[in-house]
Amino acid sequence: MVGVTDHIEQPRPAVGPLRIGPFVVDPPVVLAPMAGVTNLAFRQLCRRFGDGLFVSEMVNARGLMEDGEKTWQLASFGPEEPRRSLQLYGTDPVVMGAAVRRLVERDHVDHIDLNFGCPAPKVTRHGGGAAVPARPALFGAVVTAAVDNAGAVPVTVKMRIGLDEDRVTFLEAGRRAADAGAAAVALHARTARQRYSGRARWSAIAELVEALPGTPVLGNGDIWTASDALAMIERTGCAGVVVGRACLGRPWFFGQLADLFAGRPIRPEPPLGEMAVIATEHARLLTEAIGERRGMQMMRKHMGWYLTGYPVGSTVRRSVTALSTLADLEALFAPLDPELRIDPAAAAAPRGTQAGPHEVVVPDGWLDADAIEPPDARADALVSGG
Ligand SMILES: Cc1cc2nc3c(=O)[nH]c(=O)nc-3n(C[C@H](O)[C@H](O)[C@H](O)COP(=O)(O)O)c2cc1C
Repeated sequence: MVGVTDHIEQPRPAVGPLRIGPFVVDPPVVLAPMAGVTNLAFRQLCRRFGDGLFVSEMVNARGLMEDGEKTWQLASFGPEEPRRSLQLYGTDPVVMGAAVRRLVERDHVDHIDLNFGCPAPKVTRHGGGAAVPARPALFGAVVTAAVDNAGAVPVTVKMRIGLDEDRVTFLEAGRRAADAGAAAVALHARTARQRYSGRARWSAIAELVEALPGTPVLGNGDIWTASDALAMIERTGCAGVVVGRACLGRPWFFGQLADLFAGRPIRPEPPLGEMAVIATEHARLLTEAIGERRGMQMMRKHMGWYLTGYPVGSTVRRSVTALSTLADLEALFAPLDPELRIDPAAAAAPRGTQAGPHEVVVPDGWLDADAIEPPDARADALVSGG
């Protein structure tokens, strides 16, 4: 779809294959689970540019067990998805184990990722999200319950450095995850306090790699360009990279990553005309999946990202808030110059939320006792976030 004519020559990097249980993920690239973003339409679109592992939006384990219609819709895959990769959120080993069992018994998934990185106060306050790894026994029990019920389906874990710089959890949690049989551990190298602000501390990824010699470690945080991915692997020794915000409005980033790992010249950012074709296809896929009204509502935020860095002016940018139909989208692009190029600095610049820092509150005494008892159900009340 995107013209491959660039000129940034790269030697083929000496990067080994990423193995996650029975899978070889080549190139060693994972689409980060992003609630409200990495739905079927977006995964389908990203995959067209380059291979990798494309993880679903976060799905609530309790919601699955309660047979919530919305929850199961979030958990849906397309027939052409070669590896159905689902991210689960839960804090109770019993609920998590049951949800994993149900997914596996229904042959619904090929890979399960467990989310332990959510910094949202509404769950950490009750012991959920990023607060779970702060209780290693509970954390280990949740991972064990998932692995024990997953059969041959590999289970991976995604977490942060800790609650904040004084309450670091990743090394202990990483060891517990590996002991429980996790097939890989991904580290978003920020604390929950940082949320999405500041810089990811890649040195923590290197520490985790060293601490888990038998388990693939995936590095995550602040990969904005293909060369950032290589730099992370070289600096940390991680087995693969997880990319999130860099592909917001840039699904072709997976093509650039594929080029990099294949040693090909990295394809350039597309001119506006090509971007318009891709964004329109995104809107079409969303419409197919969830209907035109909801699809186009969702497309408004994506269009903000697609237009980032293209010199289209503020009137066009503002007009995305009024998008209601596919025809509106076509009308938005029609008068624009298809040859317009994105400012390269803007393409490589951080995009998406940079929110934070924010104080992290956990229940009283949460850090004093390493209890295995799950927190109360309010800790499970998460339908989005990470
Ligand atoms: C909109 C959005 C939604 C997210 N939702 C989730 C989620 O559901 N589960 C999760 O583990 N992480 C979630 N994250 C975090 C990302 O997976 C990733 O760890 C984070 O963005 C850092 O990677 P990046 O610097 O490449 O963006 C979300 C991030 C964003 C921006």
